[in-house]
Amino acid sequence: MLNLKIVIGSTRPTRAADRVTPWVVDRANSRDTFDVEVLDLRDWPLPLFQEHMGSIGDFADPTYSDPLVRKWNLTLKEADALLVVTPEYLHSIPGVLKNAFDSVFVSWALRNKPLAAVGYSGGIAAGVRAIEHLMDVAIEAEMVPLRDTVIIPRVETAFDSQGSPVDPMTDVAMTVMLDDLEWWASLLAKGRAEGELAPGSLRIRAAMAQLPETP
Ligand SMILES: Cc1cc2nc3c(=O)[nH]c(=O)nc-3n(C[C@H](O)[C@H](O)[C@H](O)COP(=O)(O)O)c2cc1C
Repeated sequence: MLNLKIVIGSTRPTRAADRVTPWVVDRANSRDTFDVEVLDLRDWPLPLFQEHMGSIGDFADPTYSDPLVRKWNLTLKEADALLVVTPEYLHSIPGVLKNAFDSVFVSWALRNKPLAAVGYSGGIAAGVRAIEHLMDVAIEAEMVPLRDTVIIPRVETAFDSQGSPVDPMTDVAMTVMLDDLEWWASLLAKGRAEGELAPGSLRIRAAMAQLPETP
């Protein structure tokens, strides 16, 4: 089984995320390949990012500034794939979601893992710009962001009374994205098991340390 973590990116009371997430979880669970865990950021009140070399302690098993940050890093380390459900706030992702990504610090917990996204918004923009930003964040976290995503405009009316999307293309897009997520998750899990290069930032530092000092 592939370990899939679904992250809910909005935490505010009355959030529209609660219309979207049950359907996302249901579709992911409908496959026998994913072992699904929902990481609702409401249940993860991570402190505003404040890590530094002094809060890390042992690099091989960092302590961080707060036990919850450590738990967050260890939990994400278990994942083979990440699926983020995000609204669009000011043409980007909510700050609480960005903070959750920032908090994955020196553990490289997301490295060489695929990222899928479901975006939504109250208007016609459908979370597209939030997803574009999220994909940039993912690259810096050394993830593999998927090309195919699910976008949901006018989220307040996008689901019927049974919780199914009213636009059939939403479900089609979800199937395509989950197919790709499965493929990448299993390929990258195999790749990670066979051996990974050290993170590029560490390799650059090591290579620079070998260079003769400039006079
Ligand atoms: C702070 C804030 C900023 C927003 N900015 C945008 C935006 O840039 N583009 C957009 O289409 N919708 C925007 N919206 C509308 C949200 O996409 C919409 O309210 C959505 O339901 C928010 O998701 P949530 O209810 O799960 O938090 C914004 C909403 C909030 C609260």
